Amino acid sequence: MKIKLKNITILFLIGLTFIAYSASVGNAQRLTDSTRIMTQNFAEDIHSYSNPKEVRVRHVDLDWMVLFDKKILQGTATLTVERAANAQNAPLILDTRDLRIEKTEASSDGKIFTQTEFQLGAADKILGAPLTVQLPANAKSVRVSYSTSPAASGLQWLEPSQTAGKKRSFMFSQAQAIHARSFIPLQDSPQVRVTYSARVRTPKNLLAVMSAEGNSQNNNARNGDYRFHMTKPIPSYLIAIAVGDLQFRSLGKRTGVYTEPAMIEKAAFELADTEKMVEATEKLYGAYRWGRYDILVLPPSFPFGGMENPMLTFATPTILAGDKSLVSLVAHELAHSWSGNLVTNATWRDFWLNEGFTTYLERRIIEAVYGQPRREMEATLGRNSLEEEMASMATRDQILHVDLKGRDPDEGFTGVPYEKGALFLRYLEETFGREKFDNFVRGYFDSHAFQSITTANFVDYLNRNLITANPQMAKRVSIEDWIYQPGLPANAPQPASEVFVKIEVQAKNYTSGKTAANKIQTRPWTTQEWLHFLKSLPQDLGVKRMAELDRAFNLTNRGNSEIAFQWLMMSIKNNYAVAYPRLEEFLTTIGRRKFVRPLFAELAKTPEGTKRAVAIYTKARSGYHPITQASVDEILKWKNQ
Ligand code: BES
Ligand code: ZN
Repeated sequence: MKIKLKNITILFLIGLTFIAYSASVGNAQRLTDSTRIMTQNFAEDIHSYSNPKEVRVRHVDLDWMVLFDKKILQGTATLTVERAANAQNAPLILDTRDLRIEKTEASSDGKIFTQTEFQLGAADKILGAPLTVQLPANAKSVRVSYSTSPAASGLQWLEPSQTAGKKRSFMFSQAQAIHARSFIPLQDSPQVRVTYSARVRTPKNLLAVMSAEGNSQNNNARNGDYRFHMTKPIPSYLIAIAVGDLQFRSLGKRTGVYTEPAMIEKAAFELADTEKMVEATEKLYGAYRWGRYDILVLPPSFPFGGMENPMLTFATPTILAGDKSLVSLVAHELAHSWSGNLVTNATWRDFWLNEGFTTYLERRIIEAVYGQPRREMEATLGRNSLEEEMASMATRDQILHVDLKGRDPDEGFTGVPYEKGALFLRYLEETFGREKFDNFVRGYFDSHAFQSITTANFVDYLNRNLITANPQMAKRVSIEDWIYQPGLPANAPQPASEVFVKIEVQAKNYTSGKTAANKIQTRPWTTQEWLHFLKSLPQDLGVKRMAELDRAFNLTNRGNSEIAFQWLMMSIKNNYAVAYPRLEEFLTTIGRRKFVRPLFAELAKTPEGTKRAVAIYTKARSGYHPITQASVDEILKWKNQ
């Protein structure tokens, strides 16, 4: 009897606690809704003119005609807005670049729109021009009628000759970091998250795909009129579109690849492990929250290796090596579905939160799918290239929390956020142990899902959830050095690859003359081993030794883009003329900036090289993406020619 009473009392108490708890959660939620715009963490974003503190865009609805003859998008962007209680007279300020604004209208119900005034401010070279739209008191949405410029920095319009099929036009967008504003008037700051929808009209024989739901339905009814929905709030730099003669091939239950018909076999073969990668990542970091994961393989002028557009990674065709050796790029872009797309850098200063985490995750995925030795090889290549790059880099750019004042955020695209960021996280893993650290990372993703955060927010979370909870180990961690100081801390992890140690011995023996070129044991080597071998040779190897290697291993004619790039860099440095026709072929067919920029920069170091560079660039320039063009223009002082 006594026991029973006690039990009832306990149940009663539990019940009371539950009611009290539910009530407080309910209150908290109501509070968050009504004061969301006020209490939200605001970070100062020097790369946006927008005023999300006063007026915040929540949804973007696009209606576009894709006009290939004029190389423009024409249509409307209808923005659903929320005004802060203390900013009732504030206008809506949007970012734009090279947009032609026809008119702006406002609506209080999303149905009836009336024209409202706008001013387009002076254009800044880096930021573009602010578009200020006057809002009536009760405005809920704003419709901007506009068209893009043929030179929009975020779009590339390809002639049929620049595609694999050679018959039909192609266009694609690349919004990161601040190019979304060149094809949509919006609040172009990664701390502003929006859902979006789109209607896109194209020539009937082309398919449009976007970083959203709808791709498979549209593919089944190809009629030049396509619809899309992104139902999760994302930053503007993840809005993406491509239009071309695209075919789809399924790779797994929620994975697939889109590319031109001429590339589909090759792409499907190369990307066959994609579903396995998604499974491995879920096991490590929790559910994949975006539904499908598809990959779009673009024509070779795509300026990046990959871009993590949600639900639809954009990828360069230069990863199609024929042996799946370059698929760590897929691991990387997939990892962004957690680090970057789910938890997003609030400003471009915090870019390392996106890329450092993603590079760390990428290597964990590679380890899970391909084994630890492969991870260590790639980590070693990463650390070595970081050290090489930092050796000639201004100290201010060696800092994770980089200062980008007065600069284009694209200048923050160096090895530092990627490799130093990844080393920092690996250092935390090694210090606290894998189990604790993995739990921490999972908790980080869960607690910040669909939020944009600053470096300070991260440091705070790190301190509260890992550092103070483990004071013994924490003594060894200097967050200050890792995040706010240049260079690498002395105790930075040093990845170790046994395979690479053997490669280094062979490189040394070849260099010293102990081993002849045709006696080097290549087994055959993987791509990573070839890269490490070539990088382990002296820079001034000399033409004679280059020729020996070339005869033994046919390096000039390698199809693997990474090996070809490495060899061509060496060919320029050593004036190995045999490789020059291949160099020209490479630079006139591939527009990936990571390859193109260093090759031109190396050529530009000598007068004869500069002549060669100018001759090649004259042929290649029109085929490059605006982003790649801008980089090479600067190297060759192109405007002054
Ligand atoms: N998000 C980046 C690409 C990017 C960064 C574009 C900044 C514009 C501005 C993407 O995830 C990336 O890092 N791509 C790498 C490949 C990766 C395997 C390191 C690239 O394109 O080289
Ligand atoms: Zn990345």
